[in-house]
Parts: sequence; structure tokens; C-alpha cells
Amino acid sequence: MSIKLTSGKEIPIEMHKTRMVQKIWLPPIDQRLKAIAEAGYNTFQLKTKDIFLDMLTDSGVNAMSDNQHAAMMRVDDAYAGSMTFYEFADAVKDVLGYKYVMNVHQGRAAEHLLSKVFSKKGDVVPTNYHFTTTKVHIELTGGALCLEIYADEALKTASTHPFKGNMDPQKLKSTIKKYGKDRIAFVRMEATTNLLGGQPFSMANLKEIKQICKENGLLLVLDGSLICENAYLVRQREKEYQNKTVAEIVKEMCSLVDIFYMSGRKNTSVRGGCIATNNKELFEKIQPWLPVYEGFFTYGGMSQREVAAMAVGMREMVDPDVAGCAVEQIKYFVNRLAETGIPVVTPPGGLACHLDAKKFLPHIPQSEYPAGALTAALYIASGIRSMERGTISMERDKDGKEVFADLELCRIALPRRVYSVSHIEYAVDRINWLYKHRNLVKGLKFVFEPPVLRFFIGKLETIGNWEQNLAEAFKKEVGNQ
Ligand code: F0G
Repeated sequence: MSIKLTSGKEIPIEMHKTRMVQKIWLPPIDQRLKAIAEAGYNTFQLKTKDIFLDMLTDSGVNAMSDNQHAAMMRVDDAYAGSMTFYEFADAVKDVLGYKYVMNVHQGRAAEHLLSKVFSKKGDVVPTNYHFTTTKVHIELTGGALCLEIYADEALKTASTHPFKGNMDPQKLKSTIKKYGKDRIAFVRMEATTNLLGGQPFSMANLKEIKQICKENGLLLVLDGSLICENAYLVRQREKEYQNKTVAEIVKEMCSLVDIFYMSGRKNTSVRGGCIATNNKELFEKIQPWLPVYEGFFTYGGMSQREVAAMAVGMREMVDPDVAGCAVEQIKYFVNRLAETGIPVVTPPGGLACHLDAKKFLPHIPQSEYPAGALTAALYIASGIRSMERGTISMERDKDGKEVFADLELCRIALPRRVYSVSHIEYAVDRINWLYKHRNLVKGLKFVFEPPVLRFFIGKLETIGNWEQNLAEAFKKEVGNQ
């Protein structure tokens, strides 16, 4: 939650105490320069020994609760029929309201199975916005085309629209008309659209999309990897829901869709995923494929320890202090940057604080990857690892031509219950310094580019060795910190 100080200032406040810690350190700038060059200016390639604040992602790096750790000590290890799995299934029933569930090893495994079972070449999958792994599975595994049906406001990075993650109902109707119902494999809604800057959709929008799907006999699939953040923001921003609990909103959201899937690495714990539904027929279409790709259905590629942590996390995630811990920190972070004129995605959403690299570095053309350059520059200036979410995160088209991203974002994620306000203040300070020296930052070019999801292992170099000038300026003004 957030708390109002007597001065009137509002700060996010941790509703937990830290009882186990991991030491971190700030590698000096000369070490950072060397590390980022070795990493090919790709923050995925950095080693954590060279990182101060690891804000690459909120996936697999959250702090778990004492109850989760305790549950991991008492598990029923069995290849088949483990009671730990049934504890998880009970939690899914109680929290999400689904009768049928299967574990998968992580979110993209669910995307793989759903694409394999429900789509074929020539199909389309309309979505409020794609996520990298989703698009790859829809297109590579399913052979379908992923269509973005977002509302126009979604691409305005500076906005006051509370629900930039809404799907545009009119665009969905015209898509159905254009392709015909039979070619629509399923309609996909993503809770707090990751690549649009963690922006939520409203319940009113989900209901409208549900209605269109119902009228046309289309499957509605929810990617609920960040469902709790979306529900928390619905409660804050949608009048009809302000007196409902996060738990009630989550359950209602789930009741509106045919198939739910999630990465378990975000809301619930640090590993795993699941697919859930109340439709037996749909479940039975997916289930036979689970042992082919993941494992038997009572573990689905996870260890029982991880299933146990996810079971407890599933119940804990709807506690407003858990659902809101990252959201409140993100709000504070975004507002602190916006007040000094830093181009940042507004309104604040879930997942991360996002810098708008097109506005931060307007002198860098998209062909030279402004979001990648900003992500590398932020690391050099601060030791903070963020993630490029722009053109480097896109796939080339079938002719090998570059596809420019709609948005060029540097994503600074807030893992749940890991960092504090002083860490955010440090980040705010270094981002402000970088903004003042933004003209020193230039573009990047690929020196090694893999054929798929190039942002993971691709390597780049700076155009014109700008990193040296940036580091010199930093050392002169701030020191070798
Ligand atoms: N869907 C969404 C909305 C996600 O954010 C992610 C992962 C996935 C699916 C895939 O799940 O990683 O468990 O296989 N997002 C991570 C991130 C990787 O950093 O945003 P996964």
C-alpha cells in the first residue's frame, strides 16, 4: 500500500519485514563499461556480479513469503497423483474459480500448448497486445497471425487514460468480419499489457469483448500472468469496482473467459505456470499434449516444491498488500520522474517504470535502436539492469527486413517485495543525470543476431564509441562510482 506522511507526501510502504537478505554491491563505472561491452550492449548478457539493482524483470526474482518457504519443505514428491498438486488445484478453484487445471513449466509453455491445440496455418489471433513469447508461439507453433487490436490511446506514452490495455471492440468486430469466425483461433486478452508499459484493461472492456466473443462463438483466452496488478488497478480506477476486493475482481475476471493461463513466475511465486478452465471439453483437448511437452499433468515440468510455492502464492497474491506492492512502487517511481520532465510512460501501470526512448533520445533513429541504447546507457550510469522493449525485441519479417516497434521503451521492472524507496530514489537520480547528458548517447548496431527472439542472445556494439564519452562525463561529475 502507500501511506500519506504528515507533510502530505505519499510514499509506498512495505507491509512486510525483511528477514532474509542477499548482499548486493555497486560495481564502479570502469567495471560497468567493461561488463556491458563484453555483454554486447545487451543487458540479458550481463552477469549479476556486475549488477547493482537488477530491474531486468519481475519474473522469477520476487521475494517469497515465509509461508511459501515453509510449504516447500513439506511436499509430496510423486510422479503421478501428488497431493501437492491437488493442494494447488484447490487454490486455483478457490482463487480463480476453475475446476480444471494443469501445471506447465512456465508461461510460454502454456502459449505453446494453446497455439498447438487451437490454431493452424491461415488462422488469426486478435489480442489487446502481443507479448514476445506469445507472438512467437502463435506464429511459429500455431502458424497463425497475431493481430494487435489495441485502442488508439495505447501508443500514446504520455496519457491520463486509465485503461490503455483495453482491446478496441470495433476493431475486433471488423477483424471478425474481415477474416470470418472460422479463421479466428481464439481472442487473447493480456492482463496489464506487458509491452505497452504494463497498462491494464477495464472490466467493462473485458465484458464487452466477452459479449462479442459469445455472439460469434469465439474462444476467449486470458493471459493472467499479471492478473493481480490489473485487478488492483481496476479497483483504483474503475468506479463500479472501488468497493470490491482484489480477490473478487480476480474471480470475476476469470469467470468471463474460456481459458486462463499464466506464468507462475510473477504473481504467484518464482517458477512455473498453469492453464485452467471450467470447460471439460477444452481441457481434454489440451491435456493429452501435456506429457508430450511438459510432463505428467500433476507436475507439468515443475518440481513439487515449486508447485507447493505456487499453491501458497496463488492464495497470497490477491492480498492487496501483495497485489499492490509493485504497483505502488511503480506509481511513486513514475511520478518522481514525471515531475522533473523525464519522458516516462503514464499513467503508471503494473510491472515496471518505462522510459520512452523515442522522446529521451530523439536523435537516435529506430534503425539504431534507441531503447537498446538507453538501456545500455542506464546500466553504465548506474549499475541498474533494465530491459530493452523496442525494436530489438521485435522479429524481422520473412524477408529479413527490420520491423520497427510501436514503442521504444526502456523497462525498469520492480520485482515484488525486493527493492525499497531508497533504491528507487537512487534510480531517479541517475536517470535525471542521464537525461541531462542524453546527447552523449548514440545508437547501436548488431554484430551477432540469432534467428529468433534475438533480444535474448544477440550482441551489439556502439556506433562511434559513445560509451567512453558518457563514462568520462560521469567520472568528472559524479566520480568513479
Ligand atoms: N505472458 C506475459 C504477459 C508475460 O509477461 C510473460 C513473461 C509470459 C507470458 C511468458 O511467461 O516467462 O513464464 O514463460 N514475461 C517475462 C518478462 C519474461 O520479463 O516480462 P514465462
